[in-house]
Amino acid sequence: MGARVIGIGAALPERVVTNDDLAATMDTSDSWIRERTGIHERRIGSSTSVLAIESARAAMEMAGVHSEDIGLLILSTSTPDKCMPATASEVSAELNLTCGGFDINAACAGFAYGFIVASSMMKSPTGPKRLLLIGADSLSNIIDWTDRSTAILFADGGGAVVLEYTNADTLLGWDCATDGKYASILYCDHGSTVVMEGREVFKVAVRAVADSIATTLEKADIRASDVDVLLPHQANIRIIEAVCKRTGIDFAKSFNVIAHTGNNSSATIPLSMTKAHESGVLLPGSIVVMTGFGAGMTWATTVVRW
Ligand code: COA
Repeated sequence: MGARVIGIGAALPERVVTNDDLAATMDTSDSWIRERTGIHERRIGSSTSVLAIESARAAMEMAGVHSEDIGLLILSTSTPDKCMPATASEVSAELNLTCGGFDINAACAGFAYGFIVASSMMKSPTGPKRLLLIGADSLSNIIDWTDRSTAILFADGGGAVVLEYTNADTLLGWDCATDGKYASILYCDHGSTVVMEGREVFKVAVRAVADSIATTLEKADIRASDVDVLLPHQANIRIIEAVCKRTGIDFAKSFNVIAHTGNNSSATIPLSMTKAHESGVLLPGSIVVMTGFGAGMTWATTVVRW
């Protein structure tokens, strides 16, 4: 028993902010940002609910499902539009959903966490037959646009999938973790802006994500060389390269959008999935690894047979 993806959707704000745009207002440069992060430009200027709704509509259209077909809504975000109600509430109203819905917050690992929660709920005998899983974040609202250590990285975006119940075993393995002793290296207080020790985050992320992938592949009894598609969180292209090197997954199998999107937290994995889908590599039976990490620090990995 499991869940399979039948629809994928993405949403990005229209406004493009290039590295040169940032260099015009702070002490940085296009070449520094490209070399250290892989980011060329990012999109900013939207709300989490707007991006969630737009990406969900696209995923539902691809899946060919209507509002009444959706049995549960899970929305991953760490930038909800309001403290309460959950952003899922507004999204649900706009999409005319009649099912249950809730937000989860596992920072940038949220979509991978959401995929695990969604798949597990769909395995329940009374679980939903079709589920909408959205990752959306508007990080531009919690960035100090004079702080070059964070402003160059974070941006806005949304991504969504429609999952359908299947008799096949699709989620072959998963792993998730939170290590609160790293909470102080990446956080945002209420009403404030993101604070980050970038170098520390980099080190923890590479180690944790590589270990998490190795653990999950072992649980799933899959070798790194058998991975067809890697959908990694898009925080820094050098983190993805280092993780591939450590795990033995061919970097060419990773689908990366960071050059044009920056880091849009919960949205990055579904945006990477959109690229993989457009490239035609998400075929029935493909072994797909999704992996995310973020503030907490949190991290999560899934190994899925497509
Ligand atoms: N432009 C130009 N110079 C910059 C800069 C910027 N935007 N940010 C930092 N620098 C400078 C530093 O002041 C430092 O100068 P110094 O050598 O004179 O002291 C130098 O560049 C190197 O800084 P460092 O912080 O060591 O750079 P780095 O290679 O670690 O890159 C990050 C910084 C933030 C890009 C990188 O650490 C990173 O991506 N970390 C992970 C962050 C992340 O993934 N966050 C999201 C998690 S979900």
